[in-house]
Amino acid sequence: MSTEKTTPPTPASETAAPADTLGRPLRDLRISVTDRCNFRCPYCMPKEVFGRKYKFLPRSELLTFEEITRLAGIFSALGVRKLRLTGGEPTIRRGLPKLVRMLSAVDGIEDLAMTTNASRLTAMAPELRQAGLRRVTVSLDSLDDARFREMSGAEFPVDLVLEGIEAARRAGLLPVKINVVVKRGVNEDDALAIARRFRGPDYIVRFIEYMDVGTTNGWRTDDVVPAAEIIDTIGRELPLEAIDPNYRGEVARRWRYADGKGEVGFIASVTEPFCGDCTRARLSADGQLYTCLFAVKGHDLRQLLRDGASDEEIEAFLRGLWSRRTDRYSEQRTEKTATRRHKVEMSYIGG
Ligand code: GTP
Ligand code: 5AD
Ligand code: SF4
Ligand code: SF4
Repeated sequence: MSTEKTTPPTPASETAAPADTLGRPLRDLRISVTDRCNFRCPYCMPKEVFGRKYKFLPRSELLTFEEITRLAGIFSALGVRKLRLTGGEPTIRRGLPKLVRMLSAVDGIEDLAMTTNASRLTAMAPELRQAGLRRVTVSLDSLDDARFREMSGAEFPVDLVLEGIEAARRAGLLPVKINVVVKRGVNEDDALAIARRFRGPDYIVRFIEYMDVGTTNGWRTDDVVPAAEIIDTIGRELPLEAIDPNYRGEVARRWRYADGKGEVGFIASVTEPFCGDCTRARLSADGQLYTCLFAVKGHDLRQLLRDGASDEEIEAFLRGLWSRRTDRYSEQRTEKTATRRHKVEMSYIGG
């Protein structure tokens, strides 16, 4: 009989990529690198709330690039394949290209994207591309300068945003996705012009239903323009055909132009919630992990990191957290949860 010692096999539940209580794997980590932004879109950071006196996170509370990269490695071991940098406005974080370089070297990550308002892309796109960023998604709600300023709450010309988009295209951050939040009575008339302007292989426009994220934007059901309505408006001028998702959990419903000149997407989180396939987790700039965009409470990863937890301990903590996850807010939304629940702000947790 052999006297050799064998280590008992580790149970699969402690090594395999975890699924939550609804069978959803963890695939996509969205990393907010700052809670600050140079715009004040009323649906995200209304001026009256995010004014001079607003207390943004102090620098000492932000995760360092080393801490973010270490967490990204642990998330990758748990099944995350896609990272998205968000804010606030991520390009405001000092040294961002360095973080991109560090994240692009993390094993197992297949996609590295960023959501931005494009105000700084003209200057930064080539450097970000070189550092390993794959693509960008730009928030742009109108092509009309006055309406753009109204919807971004900033005295920033729309032409400079368009220049930023062009810089991203030239740098190869492709496809450039354009996110358009549609608000009833404000910019629904702009949808067709935006769709027309960004037809073609380099762009994908996505129209987003205005959501009740956070507690400060004064959201009302009446402000929401159902995606079906915009599909109708665009389809009447530019015929559309529905196409299949690129991957499980894609939030945008895809349509292509019947003439073959590109595609357009619709993110109908209010009228057609997509929680059933939600594989996303969100990390705030100060290291709180949220398992839903509409969460009330995060889980403190910064404390774990700064208390000296090992990678294995953090991984076990996250595995447990994800396995217990039950979130499906958009499917359960009621007038009461939309207006009275103390949800985190979009600028803190990213889009
Ligand atoms: P791709 O990787 O290009 O497919 O991007 P994406 O569709 O995952 O992400 P993007 O960050 O561009 O999301 C667009 C918008 O959809 C966000 O700004 C949110 O408004 C909304 N959104 C994204 N993820 C979620 C989600 O998990 N829940 C809800 N309710 N809305 C979401
Ligand atoms: N509803 C829908 N989308 C929103 N975004 C910000 N706030 C809201 C909201 N209340 C989107 C922006 C941007 C991303 C950061 O989140 O358009 O693309
Ligand atoms: Fe800034 Fe984007 Fe929020 Fe507008 S939506 S305030 S650009 S973070
Ligand atoms: Fe995911 Fe929450 Fe959005 Fe549903 S509401 S899709 S669970 S983030």
